[in-house]
Amino acid sequence: MRPVEIKEGVHWIGVVDWNCRNFHGYARSANGTTYNAFYIEDEKKVLVDTVSKGSESQFICSLSHLTKPEEIDYIVVNHLEPDHAGCLAKMVELCKPEKIFVSVMGGKALKTFFDCEDWPVHVVKPGEEVSIGKRTLRFYETRMLHWPDNMFTFVPEDKLLFTSDAFGQNIAASERWVDEMSKEMVEDHMQQYFANIITPYSSKVIKTLETFAGLNLDVDMICPDHGLMYRGDDCAFALEKYMEYANQTPKNKATLFYDTMWSSTERMINAVASGLVSEGISVKVMSVKANHHSDIMSEVFDSAAIVIGSPTHNNGILPGMADALTYVKGLRPKDKIGACVGSFGWSGECVNILNEWLEKMGCDIIDPKIKAKNRPDHDALKECFQLGVAIAAAIKEKTGK
Ligand code: FEO
Repeated sequence: MRPVEIKEGVHWIGVVDWNCRNFHGYARSANGTTYNAFYIEDEKKVLVDTVSKGSESQFICSLSHLTKPEEIDYIVVNHLEPDHAGCLAKMVELCKPEKIFVSVMGGKALKTFFDCEDWPVHVVKPGEEVSIGKRTLRFYETRMLHWPDNMFTFVPEDKLLFTSDAFGQNIAASERWVDEMSKEMVEDHMQQYFANIITPYSSKVIKTLETFAGLNLDVDMICPDHGLMYRGDDCAFALEKYMEYANQTPKNKATLFYDTMWSSTERMINAVASGLVSEGISVKVMSVKANHHSDIMSEVFDSAAIVIGSPTHNNGILPGMADALTYVKGLRPKDKIGACVGSFGWSGECVNILNEWLEKMGCDIIDPKIKAKNRPDHDALKECFQLGVAIAAAIKEKTGK
């Protein structure tokens, strides 16, 4: 893509990764992603972030429409993860910058990623300012949004905030701005991104947003490193949405995810779903064979309850279910109601194992744990339906709706 001037003298020089479907090796990105990076033309010429390794030729080509790499004076590294710093070494080699700005934690981590002993690294303190001519770069630590090294860079003269992973979405598009796309679609992708990348750090997000609110920065443009950028009123939209996501306020919704061998567990899950729906609860029923674990997480994220199911297999649960549970638990969704069901042939450990997962996730568990030998009969399915009704009552009590 050619550069896009986003403010006078400030240019988007990112790369659109149209066909990325495996984001960071663990999350599905059904609509691709972008690696946003920026070039500021002032008395000092500045690169803000770079792009992933493998995208460097496009990036250098884009930059070359504006300046020669060797004319770059400063490189700002808001985040060291390889989707943003994957071609940093190449850019340092080409640009020979006068300074490379990183956060305190970035300074510590830099040498674990790069042979950078002779790089001109400048570790910035939180709030430190650097003049680049008509403009100032001001740096703020934003640890754990998404790694310990993350920081935001603010340009007060342009009211412009570069936020790295925060406020990102996995959207590959020819458009660059949120206001050029459907707000509903953007919001959906923002939430998916938060659910799969940021959820474990929700309390840090709240603290960071509160700190920034206290700073009263005059911001009219927010530029994340993934997806579309926010301008004007959309900046407030981005901040409001992040506070909402970080609070993890649940909806009157349950996500039921399961694996099944010969459809017995599936029938039990469907009966629980029927019970939930009969009480007005919205449900998502997701086989782990048909749904990627990150799509399951996206639905779990705003659900008040999860219902998990697996038959017993080799004294354990089916491996696809173990994968989904490992992934969801790792993202630490909070305050969920939980319940479990499963079929078995002879040993029947499934529901005890599933219940342990619910306990480890800190769920408020609704009993009974229902297991059915070989196939659920009418009574077992009726019991599953009643479990759904009981979960619905607990959801309404939790949400107050
Ligand atoms: Fe987009 Fe944490 O990297």
